[in-house]
Amino acid sequence: MSQNSVGNPYGHFDDQNREYVVTRPDTPLPWLNYLGQDEFFGLCTNTAGGYTFWKDAKLRRLTRYRYNNVPYDLGGRYLYVNDGGSVWNPGWKPVKAKTDAYECRHGLGYSVISSTKDGLSVSQTMFVPPGENLELWKVTVKNSSSKAKSVKVFSYQEFCFFEALNDMTNYQRTWSIGEVEVEGGAIYHKTEYRERRNHYTLFGCTGPVTGFDTSRDAFVGIHEGLHEAKVPFAGKASNSKAFGWNPIGSHEVTLNLKPGEETTYTYILAYVDHDLVRFRGEKFTAPFVINKAVGMDVMKKYSAPGAVDAAFDRLKAYWDQNLGNFQVASPDPHANRMANIWNQYQCMATFNMSRSASMYETGIGRGMGFRDSNQDLLGFVHMIPGRARERILDIAATQLSDGTCYHQYQPLTKKGNADVGGDFYDDHLWLVLSTVSYIKESGDRSILDAPCGFADKTYASNKDKETLLHHLETSIAYTMTKRGPHGLPLIGHADWNDCLNLNCFSTEPNESFQTAGDVKDSKAESVMIAGLFLYAARQMTELYKALGRSADAARIDAHRKTMLGILESVAWDGEWYTRAYDAEGKVIGSKTNEEGKIFIESQGWAVLGGAGADGGPFGGRARQALESVHKHLYTKNGVVLQQPAYSTYNKAYGEVTSYPPGVKENAGIFSHNNTWIHLGWCLLGEGDRALEYYHSICPSTKEAQIDTYRSEPYVYAQMTAGKDAPCFGEAKNSWLTGTAAWTFVVVSQGIFGIQPDFAGLRVDPCIPKGWKGFEVTRKFRGATYHITVTNPNGVSKGVKSVTVDGKAVAGNILPVLASGDHAVAVVLG
Ligand code: GLC
Ligand code: GLC
Repeated sequence: MSQNSVGNPYGHFDDQNREYVVTRPDTPLPWLNYLGQDEFFGLCTNTAGGYTFWKDAKLRRLTRYRYNNVPYDLGGRYLYVNDGGSVWNPGWKPVKAKTDAYECRHGLGYSVISSTKDGLSVSQTMFVPPGENLELWKVTVKNSSSKAKSVKVFSYQEFCFFEALNDMTNYQRTWSIGEVEVEGGAIYHKTEYRERRNHYTLFGCTGPVTGFDTSRDAFVGIHEGLHEAKVPFAGKASNSKAFGWNPIGSHEVTLNLKPGEETTYTYILAYVDHDLVRFRGEKFTAPFVINKAVGMDVMKKYSAPGAVDAAFDRLKAYWDQNLGNFQVASPDPHANRMANIWNQYQCMATFNMSRSASMYETGIGRGMGFRDSNQDLLGFVHMIPGRARERILDIAATQLSDGTCYHQYQPLTKKGNADVGGDFYDDHLWLVLSTVSYIKESGDRSILDAPCGFADKTYASNKDKETLLHHLETSIAYTMTKRGPHGLPLIGHADWNDCLNLNCFSTEPNESFQTAGDVKDSKAESVMIAGLFLYAARQMTELYKALGRSADAARIDAHRKTMLGILESVAWDGEWYTRAYDAEGKVIGSKTNEEGKIFIESQGWAVLGGAGADGGPFGGRARQALESVHKHLYTKNGVVLQQPAYSTYNKAYGEVTSYPPGVKENAGIFSHNNTWIHLGWCLLGEGDRALEYYHSICPSTKEAQIDTYRSEPYVYAQMTAGKDAPCFGEAKNSWLTGTAAWTFVVVSQGIFGIQPDFAGLRVDPCIPKGWKGFEVTRKFRGATYHITVTNPNGVSKGVKSVTVDGKAVAGNILPVLASGDHAVAVVLG
């Protein structure tokens, strides 16, 4: 399947190497990549911009980044080259000197930026070795000219004082506390280490260091910008020692290169924490002198020949293994490329970052989201189930005993906080989805008995804590209890659509829609939550059946039937499902409304929840609801959230009416909810529609219109401007979106139909009729399934026969097999 894309003026896909190759630095927006996979992370743009943190972008930020800078993306892993007085950066910024060649390869967990100017090539490979709390930049400098060159390379990183918000707001203190130490090629940033911090940042260099700087004022100047920084233009380090103000790390490396000569060395940015790695000896080795033992070990380790390359090989192997759990070869190059590489990779980013740190999320506002992280797990669980398990238990522990949830928690402390509000009455239900998907993937039912406890209770010991299953029951009961006058679930501050604020009534511009408003005695109801509940209740029923607990299964199924009856009787509007009832009990998302007549979310969830299913008492409604989506909401760039867009602010509806028409939740194309419609088409067996819709938001298809689309063509964006906006087709908020996980569900489980289930691997594809077949390799509970699907009769859906290792299997669930390779043949028809 390997192929390169035709590309666009700024770059192209290199599928073989699993890289996106940016060939021009002046991309329509900064194009981002993430470094790191466990606890140490970096953001890295195609001009080497970005920053680094350990575990928590707010509480442990190691390097600085000023968001919304001019230009947008300024500050990062900068190298300044001074080649005989000519100063340039391999990543183009900040000097922006014209180079003879430039390339940035964003790969899985690494970025390689290489440039050439005047016969000198510099290449910088940046990555975080698996399992380590440090970032490496392997730098190769080659003199390809015919003359000997004496070149200086100046590194530049601005240190952050760990707590990012304080760092960028409290200058009366922070400008007086900065402290560093320098020892050979190692620069230690140790601000606040003398008081309550047991950690420092090491910025080391293994190359021939001939000088250093640690004062920003000395390196850059007071009136200068980074593009005209004093030291690299002077060609000489000042050996400045920062005392207060703004500490930086800069090494001067001097390289004398004969024609054709090449040299390689490494920079190391490490987080060293007393509490993680036991220091030998005391915190200080002399007054004011920090214990550098661990830092020195790190320097030694990565100065050894081959150590950096070996670490890079480990990173490659790590991704081979993760991606090896699902690989597909189909007639569609976009689906192949996205499903095999970028979509899974983005799922790792959303799993790790939730909505905290991107080019749009500053790392100080939001930690891990209850709703968001549960959904992110759906696209991650097949890669590393063990980490998914741990995450589920962490999230569950932030639920309260009445069933409400903290909407978010800080990854460092794992404690819930109410900074972006609470009482979102969909939150708790997503926990059912994540837990069930974990059990279906791993077969590990013991998670249900794991102690979690509720965030508002204290426990003498772990064994007193309520189990995860107890949490799931609490979640189901919560929705059944918290219902309004029509019998539908109450919405609280908002459901999945954070901007549908039916209890907010805000007239005060200085408050947040998510925290304002009292939900206590409100009557506002959500049809979407009803649909989500149907889905969650069906999953709980299946779970209990799988556990052999038929009475519990029947009990939950009775709730589902009750809710289904209510939804069908109050929420059908004639051609689609309505969206909600406002605080006064007036309908939203109905033909009787002037604006916002039809919404996407309730169509998706009603259908996925089983409402209007063919053959049932309200058969045909599901199909009609999706046809209405097609008629009123679908565009070539995806499905808009509602129509008509709201033209004026309505305090009874809140933030959804605050956005200009065509953006965000006011009729923007919110990619995340599109995926529920994709799955709906799959459920109805409409494979051609499913693929058409999948393509409409697939970033890889946007290369052809990149100057409109602007965002990275290799990852999903949260939002694309809808048809009401003047910039229809422009994508924003890339990377951290639930779209990543849900699209992986769409493509792997909906279209290719490989669905983990309690008893095995169900195969139930829904493909375009014209496809002759496809192949999937799926690792599942230790066995490797090589699945060949053929479609001799040109159908979209329906499995006619299955053989496993040459033997016929009844039905379409592949049994759990012994480890090793197994050949599966599936015939549709
Ligand atoms: C953002 C939020 C998510 C919410 C969505 C729709 O992506 O992170 O929680 O569901 O917006 O409003
Ligand atoms: C705004 C955004 C929405 C997000 C919410 C919470 O309402 O439009 O997408 O979920 O903020 O941060």
